[in-house]
Amino acid sequence: MTRKINWGVIGSGGIARRRTIPEGIVAGSNAQLRIVYDVVSAANEEVAGEFGVPAARDLDELLNSDVDAVYVATPAHLHREHVIACAQAGKHVLCEKPLGLSVAEAETMIAACQAANVQLGCALMMRFHSQHQAALRLIQQGKLGSPVYARAQLSCWYPPIPGAWRQNADLGGGGSLMDLGGHCIDLLEMFFGHITRVSCFINNTVHHYGSEDSATAILRFRNGALASVDTFFCIQDASSKNVLELYGSKGSILAQGTIGQGMAGEMVAYLQEEDAAYEARQTRTDGAGLRITPPPRNMYQAEIEEFGESLLEGRDCQIAGSIGLRSQRILSACYESAQSGRAVDLK
Ligand SMILES: NC(=O)c1ccc[n+]([C@@H]2O[C@H](COP(=O)([O-])OP(=O)(O)OC[C@H]3O[C@@H](n4cnc5c(N)ncnc54)[C@H](O)[C@@H]3O)[C@@H](O)[C@H]2O)c1
Repeated sequence: MTRKINWGVIGSGGIARRRTIPEGIVAGSNAQLRIVYDVVSAANEEVAGEFGVPAARDLDELLNSDVDAVYVATPAHLHREHVIACAQAGKHVLCEKPLGLSVAEAETMIAACQAANVQLGCALMMRFHSQHQAALRLIQQGKLGSPVYARAQLSCWYPPIPGAWRQNADLGGGGSLMDLGGHCIDLLEMFFGHITRVSCFINNTVHHYGSEDSATAILRFRNGALASVDTFFCIQDASSKNVLELYGSKGSILAQGTIGQGMAGEMVAYLQEEDAAYEARQTRTDGAGLRITPPPRNMYQAEIEEFGESLLEGRDCQIAGSIGLRSQRILSACYESAQSGRAVDLK
């Protein structure tokens, strides 16, 4: 294999065009865009022209090309079909989240890639945000103490749009929880470890389409910590600050705007070395906090470079298909809880 990974893209017209091609594949130090395919040929030709590569006329043309890896960025209900087609053509695959519509689909994709001896990744790129990585290091160094509670929020305004696949649970696998909450849950597992029990509510509060526009989930981790995720398609963009809050026995790490597609965001840690004595009056002094400002890193570039490096080094990637499957298991437990009204246990 060459030192650069040759990439093809299936579903070039959406997030691929907006973010992953320009910021990830074109910018990636070990990546080379070779060919793009989209079922909407006019859009595909525009993307091909913009980035100076051939526009495949059909899926076979892309799969028969000399690419090493394919980035699948089609709607969720097509992930299974496209990942399996790539695997059978001997191509490594980085599939967008969610990994298909269900646990069963994710398992089928993983099995197909294993059988074909190709790597499968799931593009849960928010793990690579440099402030998230800095927070993870603080937690791993024990600076937060014992994990106690976390909150992750990701919401946007998503009014009814005719034909929008995310507004039809059969095509998107769910609504705000599947689409946005999956990122939050994945981040919280990265920070606090395995989730073992979930309780969830979903609702259509404002928009009455075929997937939920509202979801809150309460999570319990194996280490005893608790968390909540709130994720809505019916909160105005400007009014949701997409907060991330991580609390431990020795302090907290509080962020705004780090969850999302951009590199920006503010994160402050309030940490103390020693346990304070019990203060019955609970008077609070305004701690200045430690601003967490590592050099920003583009998350799309980071995911493409990490996937490429894993291929060049012959190792599993940090965002392997198993993470996408794990995400599906937790999301599925959340939907089961929302339906049954009971908490659901996970392995
Ligand atoms: N990680 C992120 O930041 C992020 C952001 C947005 C979307 N996503 C994920 O990316 C995927 C795509 O989302 P999107 O917002 O780009 O959707 P989209 O609908 O905007 O774009 C999907 C593209 O796939 C094309 N397509 C549809 N059917 C196809 C087929 N059979 N063959 C080839 N191309 C086909 C469409 O024409 C379109 O250009 C989803 O899984 C979504 O969850 C991830």
